[in-house]
Amino acid sequence: TWTSSSIVDDQVSRIRAQVGDKRVLCALSGGVDSAVAAALVQRAIGDQLTCCFIDHGLLRKGEAEQVKHDFVQITGVDLVVADESERFLSALAGVSEPEAKRKIIGREFIRSFEDVARQIAGDKGIDFLVQGTLYPDVVESGGGDGAANIKSHHNVGGLPDDLQFTLIEPLRALFKDEVRAVGAELGLPDSMVWRQPFPGPGLGIRIVGEITQDRLDLLREADAIAREELTAAGLDREVWQMPVVLLADVHSVGVQGDGRTYGHPIVLRPVSSEDAMTADWSRLPYDLLEKISTRITNQCPEVNRVVLDVTSKPPATIEWE
Ligand code: XMP
Repeated sequence: TWTSSSIVDDQVSRIRAQVGDKRVLCALSGGVDSAVAAALVQRAIGDQLTCCFIDHGLLRKGEAEQVKHDFVQITGVDLVVADESERFLSALAGVSEPEAKRKIIGREFIRSFEDVARQIAGDKGIDFLVQGTLYPDVVESGGGDGAANIKSHHNVGGLPDDLQFTLIEPLRALFKDEVRAVGAELGLPDSMVWRQPFPGPGLGIRIVGEITQDRLDLLREADAIAREELTAAGLDREVWQMPVVLLADVHSVGVQGDGRTYGHPIVLRPVSSEDAMTADWSRLPYDLLEKISTRITNQCPEVNRVVLDVTSKPPATIEWE
């Protein structure tokens, strides 16, 4: 059986053998998986590794700053930050179909990594790219044995065909709990190891409909309120994750002040899970739900309704897209 220390030893020697003295680029997302993958590769090859963080403009409030400061402070890793929000937003303009969004985001990520690689290493480029792909990402993207394509995860099914990099995916055989154990083994702090999952395509797959700057700003605000209240209630660890979704293509009638409104619903999707392959909806306390609902409708005038998703996975998936 595997232990986290045997996984670390095994992966460290594999990565050294694969990479030799070449340089490696690692894509950080702010989440657990890419942080653990980066720490593992750093253990294997030290300063041959450069990390890069692409700000695709689909992040939650405070996320870019968190990666820039926290991760670098903890690991001392060499980090390049690229603001690519214009590139992603214009590539996504007018697109509302979920698989199309995922493919575009996957492609633009890779194009951004290629630009960063050129910026660091010139024409020589960089041969290897590290991604924090997990086993469930592979299965749900249709990469497992006989598995159907449920959705193309941005780092598996969403990659372009003309990929210039050789991928290093040291977590590809692991489930989330194993990744967390490996992270702890590598000395990453609890605040990083126990972070709730957040998908690489970010808020882009939490806006049902077209992605626009205004909609992103609105969702970012609602999401920040929901996360703040969940944390204040001490339920961060108990709840696996809580997607906050903007139904941008749906309008409903409301009344605010003394006038009729015709606004958008926000969906709360708190779930409990072991590995994200299956999930149950979380029975959050009513007073917490009430607080979140009141704050969102008060602070986001475009939202006149907050609804709770009470579906397990299956039949629904965790994310709405
Ligand atoms: P679903 O919606 O398929 O999500 O039940 C399962 C888990 O995967 C996350 N997720 C993603 N993570 N890239 C990622 O890195 C993606 O494209 C992606 N799509 C979904 C989701 O947040 C949940 O934890």
